[in-house]
Amino acid sequence: MKVKIVEVGLRDGLQNETEIYPTTIKLELIKRLIAANLINIEVTSFVHPKWIPQLADAEQLLVDLPTHHKINYRALVPNTKGFERIKASPLSEIAVFISASQTHNMKNVNKTIAASLKQIKEILNLASTSHLPVRAYISCVFGCPYEGHVSLRVVEELCRDLFDLGVYEVSLGDTIGVAVPCQVKQVLHSLQSSYAGKLAVHFHDTKGLALVNCFVSLEEGITTFDSSIGGLGGCPYAPGASGNVATEELVTMLHGMGVETGIDLAELCETAAWMENIRKKPLPSKVLRSYLAK
Ligand code: HMG
Ligand code: MG
Repeated sequence: MKVKIVEVGLRDGLQNETEIYPTTIKLELIKRLIAANLINIEVTSFVHPKWIPQLADAEQLLVDLPTHHKINYRALVPNTKGFERIKASPLSEIAVFISASQTHNMKNVNKTIAASLKQIKEILNLASTSHLPVRAYISCVFGCPYEGHVSLRVVEELCRDLFDLGVYEVSLGDTIGVAVPCQVKQVLHSLQSSYAGKLAVHFHDTKGLALVNCFVSLEEGITTFDSSIGGLGGCPYAPGASGNVATEELVTMLHGMGVETGIDLAELCETAAWMENIRKKPLPSKVLRSYLAK
């Protein structure tokens, strides 16, 4: 069995860091991730620089990206204005995003869910002209920081609408890390019957359950996982959100289970250690702690 890991540390990770890193540091992180054999890397986001100042260098980052035919570089695009900014870029695909919670969607992109779907349709039209595949994220699938409970029916309807619009994959976001394994099983059980092979999972680790949620997702047949080097991250428009499951924790679990990822774990831990050094603050990854203690 082989799984695909989508590294989101440069986008989801850095978007929540208060210190603004220079583009050169981001490029160095990308080089190190590539050296660890990560091939699916979400590098930045074309959201409004006022909303996410950390990613204001998105255009420059794409200009300087190491050219590498094997690497699938991706970026987040919130609207058609964001799409215009990625023209003539080396991206292999883009990602759109929407929330299953009306309040979180308003806080995150200043639009209702219906207006966001309309916006996504326009982005998909532009992407299809440029032959760019589009992934979609659904946020707050397992709970919302503002509304609490989120209805599975809303998630099912959003999945249907997004696939009807033409996205090739939906990544199910536990934006604030509230999902528990039995809930993950229930949600995936319901969605996998219609969308097997087209779903990814995106767990934040606020309560330390991201890895076990990845485990049950694997049991439910999911083979695409989002993760972040060192466990960096969080959504600035979701109070309480902490980082994604750490890539090295996910890889440690998968390799221990005999699941192939193609990733060099030692190189990955070196990269997390390098990032921690740059950051001058500990990263949450337990695998990194144990690697550094050796
Ligand atoms: P808005 O203020 O409603 O935008 O923001 P607007 O359409 O009213 O336009 C206002 C001004 O912004 C205009 O300029 C536009 O041109 C400009 P003016 O005419 O006043 O000079 N503008 C832009 N400029 C640059 N790039 C753009 C852009 N769009 C408009 N793309 C907007 C709407 C979507 C831009 C804003 O709400 C935004 O940037 N939000 C992003 C929030 C964000 O990045 N959140 C985190 C990512 S999502 C996440 O982390 C969750 C995920 O990880 C999954 C999970 O964990 O659940 C994916
Ligand atoms: Mg996220």
